[in-house]
Amino acid sequence: MDGKTNDHLQTLREMRSRAVLGGGLKRIEQQHSRGKLTARERLSLLLDDGSFQEFGALATHNVSAFGLDKQRFPGDGIVTGFGKVSGRRVAVFAQDFTVLGGSFSEVQAQKISRLQDLALESGIPLIGLNDSGGARIQEGVRSLAAYGEVFVRNVMASGVIPQISLILGPCAGGAVYSPALTDFIIMAGDSTMFLTGPDVISAVTGEEVTAQTLGGVEVHTARSGVAHLSAPTEVAGLSLVKLLLSYLPQNNNEDPPQIRPDDPATRMDEALNSLIPNDENEPYDIRDVITAVFDRDSFLEIQPAYAANAVVGFVRLDGYSVGVVANQPAFMSGALNIDASDKISRFIRLCDAFNIPIITFVDCPGFLPGAKEEYGGVIRHGAKIIYAYCEATVPKISIVTRKAMGGAYVAMGAKQMRTDLAFAWPTAQIAVMGAEPAVRVLYREEVKKASDPAMRAAELVAEYREQFFNPYQAADVGQIDEVIEPRESRPRLARALEVLRTKVQQTPPKKHGVSPA
Ligand code: HXC
Repeated sequence: MDGKTNDHLQTLREMRSRAVLGGGLKRIEQQHSRGKLTARERLSLLLDDGSFQEFGALATHNVSAFGLDKQRFPGDGIVTGFGKVSGRRVAVFAQDFTVLGGSFSEVQAQKISRLQDLALESGIPLIGLNDSGGARIQEGVRSLAAYGEVFVRNVMASGVIPQISLILGPCAGGAVYSPALTDFIIMAGDSTMFLTGPDVISAVTGEEVTAQTLGGVEVHTARSGVAHLSAPTEVAGLSLVKLLLSYLPQNNNEDPPQIRPDDPATRMDEALNSLIPNDENEPYDIRDVITAVFDRDSFLEIQPAYAANAVVGFVRLDGYSVGVVANQPAFMSGALNIDASDKISRFIRLCDAFNIPIITFVDCPGFLPGAKEEYGGVIRHGAKIIYAYCEATVPKISIVTRKAMGGAYVAMGAKQMRTDLAFAWPTAQIAVMGAEPAVRVLYREEVKKASDPAMRAAELVAEYREQFFNPYQAADVGQIDEVIEPRESRPRLARALEVLRTKVQQTPPKKHGVSPA
């Protein structure tokens, strides 16, 4: 090698070493002292060893306003490239808080957009590691336009490749919307997400808020529903990304990977036969049913703390990825409300987009009555569940475990909603409404006129229960395909999914539907 070549190599190596340092050693120390990892440390924990192929490491901004010309760092506050997670290809970006607080710039947008384009064209999941103070204020409209470049690509990629956002620090201002357009938001550690910062809120509204009370992990996992999962530490958050990916396909033209099952599909859990309490109003935890039916240790609940009256998540059955949707009798008796409707409908659409069959467990007394729900628009929110089930063309199976009352029976995947198979346990109760309200509506006069109204009402309630509080009328008219013993659920579902694996169902050609919002 001659001296000139050596010089060239030397220059490249120096530039690369500088790029690796992001905002410099002092900033890295600051990042560590905040209990946070750097962008590159995060990437090395996420990706298989030696798999990362970076691009754009030397890109820098060209803006001089507000002294920005003195703050030019190779990479411009973001690391972008391709790598592998458990041997599967992923596209990934990591915002670097050590460079101008990870603030979002024109160059960052160019790098992310390039990554998004390549990921979409090659059908590879996109993972974003977010840690940013929002639009780079000094860049003005450049940084605002930059968000637009990324948003449009988030939307184009939606339903084509899985998009996962991990929030590892502040995610402020415009920075929140790219994650909000992706499929999953996972918040780790003390991360925060807010549109308007605490200082501005206090100045404008006088409200006393902090970054945590405004947009901390608890807020977004339990109250707002913005985040789908959380992890106590950054390392746990990165592991959660890997776990989540294992249930998802590379893109919408592929199926999720099947893992070798270590739990026989024929296994029957005897405990299921006695899981439903004798007293029909006594709650039980539907998650006990889910964990008993599906492959051992395969349940990853999504949005566990939000709208706990509904349960959604990924499981495996015979090693295949499945989306499970259920009412939760242990919380609000499993009644459907606005938040549960949003949670369920979005999850169904996500599963449908990514070829993941849906299994629904129904135990629901109906939609939650009340003015608060009506004013909040429970009609349009509840309609989303119906829309999502009807629209979904993946294999769909439902099991009524106990109550399937009125609207809830229909909304939770009744046969007419293009559900492929409907099962019921012998404990199922399928009726238009509960016995007492039904008797009040149907027999008000008769009960009033009776010599002993209370006794007459009790007789009529008993008659109604005899008629409807079982699955046999529904089975008789073909609305339930088979009444099964609870312990048979696992083998039945596994065999049904095996049959349905090649299901093809068409929807009339259209630009897109207009889903209730
Ligand atoms: C430029 C920024 C910045 C930003 C932070 N920095 N945010 N630089 N543009 N948006 C810089 C800081 O000046 C600081 O530089 C360094 O990054 C680290 O920030 P700190 O404030 O020291 O860190 P911390 O105390 O951890 O607080 C982080 C923070 C806070 C909560 C994110 O910096 C903050 O509130 N930033 C502004 C958030 C915000 O309002 N963004 C909205 C922008 S408007 P020095 O050199 O001093 O250390 C927007 C609208 C887009 O995004 C809409 C599109 C749809």
